[in-house]
Amino acid sequence: VFSACAALATVMATGPALANCDDGEIVIKFSHVVKATGHPKGDAATLFAERVNKEMNGKACMEVFPNSQLFDDDKVMEALLLGDVQLAAPSLSKFEAYTKKYRLFDLPFLFADLSAVDRFTNSKSGKDLLNVVADKGFIGLGYWSSGLKQFSASKPLIEPTDAKGLKFRVQTSDVAVAMIEALGANAQKLAFKEVYGALQTGVVDGQENTWSNIYTQKFFEVQDGITETNHQLLAYLLVTSKEWLDGLDPDVREQFLKIAQEVTQTANDNVVKQEAKNRQNILDAGSKIRTLSPEQRKAWVDTMKPVWSKFENDIGKDVIDAAVAANN
Ligand code: LMR
Repeated sequence: VFSACAALATVMATGPALANCDDGEIVIKFSHVVKATGHPKGDAATLFAERVNKEMNGKACMEVFPNSQLFDDDKVMEALLLGDVQLAAPSLSKFEAYTKKYRLFDLPFLFADLSAVDRFTNSKSGKDLLNVVADKGFIGLGYWSSGLKQFSASKPLIEPTDAKGLKFRVQTSDVAVAMIEALGANAQKLAFKEVYGALQTGVVDGQENTWSNIYTQKFFEVQDGITETNHQLLAYLLVTSKEWLDGLDPDVREQFLKIAQEVTQTANDNVVKQEAKNRQNILDAGSKIRTLSPEQRKAWVDTMKPVWSKFENDIGKDVIDAAVAANN
């Protein structure tokens, strides 16, 4: 009986074997919501699994579950704590229930480009923010940038007043809601997998996302066109459970963390190219991309940027200043 219990305990610690895992290997399930390929997060997750399965063969085994097939972003955090999955990379906008500090990353027109994001996330302020969810049982392993966001709707958006009265899908982010309301528009929080259907059936009129999400989810098919606003960052926190990570043997943990760090670097090095490719894919598919003149863009900035002040106390002025400074 004792040995049967011990065997059971081992199975539970290593998890039920996945199709491609050997007995005794630590099972690492990575759940995310985007397409498996042609997307910065999908490709990074695949690379992560390839490296773990090759370099940690016999010790650990990773399988990726893309496309919301296992969990939505709102469920995946609980799943991490329950040990149903070991890795996730939800956008920083989806951490409202755990911290208000990540509201920083949603402030409209905060970062001029992804190089500024890199500079900030590699700074002391940026690295400190990786730890703000530790008291909730999570460990942030790194930031994965996904691109700047663009608006689209069922009609052309050139001036911010064009958005008035429209309904836009947003992530579960109060900053995004405030930003949409500043346009005189309505915000509706929806899970990622519901967005295409909501656009198609007119439950919402518009959305905001990166070139890679707009292309790989085919949002462009059910929108009038896309306006290149670059108004907000989409970035993910590569996140695991503290309990799971602490439970690994030190040498296994060290090897896993080293791979995580290297994959994070590769993901961030590749993102600009992948975003440009998907922007071009949208054009090649026959959709319209509208660019703004400096005056038109300024009107969007002047309309949305005032929401910063509402969130300054949640984030901390020093942190906002550090992020702004990364633009120079
Ligand atoms: C969204 O919900 O729009 C994004 O967070 C999806 C993603 O993971 O890119």
